[in-house]
Amino acid sequence: MTSIKHLAVIMDGNGRWAESKGLPRTVGHERGAEVVRDVTRAVRQRGITHLTLFAFSSLNWGRPSSEVQALMDLLCHFLESQEIEMIAEGIRLKGIGERAMLPANVLQLLERVERNTMHNEAMILNLAISYDGRRDLVRATKQLVSLACQGQLLPADVREELIMTELSTGALPDVDLLIRTSGERRLSGFLPVEACYAELVFIEKMWPEFTTDDLDEAIDEFDHRQRRFGLTGHQLEVSMSPT
Ligand code: IPE
Ligand code: IPE
Ligand code: MG
Repeated sequence: MTSIKHLAVIMDGNGRWAESKGLPRTVGHERGAEVVRDVTRAVRQRGITHLTLFAFSSLNWGRPSSEVQALMDLLCHFLESQEIEMIAEGIRLKGIGERAMLPANVLQLLERVERNTMHNEAMILNLAISYDGRRDLVRATKQLVSLACQGQLLPADVREELIMTELSTGALPDVDLLIRTSGERRLSGFLPVEACYAELVFIEKMWPEFTTDDLDEAIDEFDHRQRRFGLTGHQLEVSMSPT
């Protein structure tokens, strides 16, 4: 069993995958949604308790409206078709991102699935929709400043845990492993604070081609890395060796 508690994935490359086959980009998103289903199931089976998926960024609103519409429709379809499985599998769904930006039907459905899965404990699935980490930090800061203005927060109260809890990921464990597909090597605004000690794995394949074998390879790579958190390798070996 892996020691990963929190896996985050930037599911990139749907459009290029479709274009390379002469298909509309939306076909890539449809195929991508199927991969989400398989990967979520596999992550749960591997005992990872938190999975955060980048489904739609704040900047993605700038895409052609037909693509944005197709993505919103797909999101609704995903939520509707997965609700029963999430309930059966003990998966708790949470949306992170700018809720006010979402079309009413997407928001309603998201909140319904959140409500119907809120007591599930096997795994938390965070779906980042209209998400941008810097915007999330601004929103959290405004919230804390307003508490301070009401006299409910003093400078001495501002600790790491408080900031982390105020982010929309809430009091989750830090991201251990962050995977990005499609060969791009950037975060694109994804979990800048939560993933600041994460191990990064970049995969050349486009998201629609990603398989559970690729997931296992990435997990295996994580399990063979030495996370030093500022210490020396020697210090870690000494602390791990039986006394
Ligand atoms: C990721 O695939 C899905 C979303 C951003 C919604 P892309 O649509 O970014 O695919 P590429 O990167 O253009 O190939
Ligand atoms: C990031 O992918 C967002 C998602 C995967 C949902 P993008 O394709 O939007 O990122 P950039 O524009 O290449 O940085
Ligand atoms: Mg992309």
